[in-house]
Amino acid sequence: MMKKKILIIPDPILRKKSDRVTSIDKSIKQLMNDMLQIMYDAPGIGLAAIQIGIPKRVVVMDLSKNEEKKNPMFFVNPEITWKSDAKSSYEEGCLSIPNQFAKIERSEKCNVKYLDYDGNEKKIEASGLLSTCIQHEIDHLNGILFIDYLSKLKKDNIIKKVSKNQKEIERVVV
Ligand code: NI
Repeated sequence: MMKKKILIIPDPILRKKSDRVTSIDKSIKQLMNDMLQIMYDAPGIGLAAIQIGIPKRVVVMDLSKNEEKKNPMFFVNPEITWKSDAKSSYEEGCLSIPNQFAKIERSEKCNVKYLDYDGNEKKIEASGLLSTCIQHEIDHLNGILFIDYLSKLKKDNIIKKVSKNQKEIERVVV
């Protein structure tokens, strides 16, 4: 597997808009396999390709609890076709914003069309945690992070904390 690191804010690559995938070939399948492994290792429940520096509209997710069987989900070119007016909020985190969490309000339900691992067109009606996660991941494909929904003060605070922690981590690498 290719050695890939998860990018951390304020890396400007995280702000890039990702490109649509034109065909699900071997290299895209390899990318999805690698992303899934990186996500499990992190560990996290969702990862967009741009988080490992690849600007393609590819997302992997697995919302199963540890003790359950694994349930990997693959979304290529995901698009929200409908969002409910009703909102729900979750305490969100992000692998690109380590150890920081904030309550974010999003549509409680959404419909998403996408291509699956084998390139088949699929549609899902997402609600609850799945709805929040898929919206969070699709945001990544558009260069948007959950901290963008916070006040400037809270956002700047998180960026400052993460940058400081990263510097401390780098300092002990000898
Ligand atoms: Ni994220």
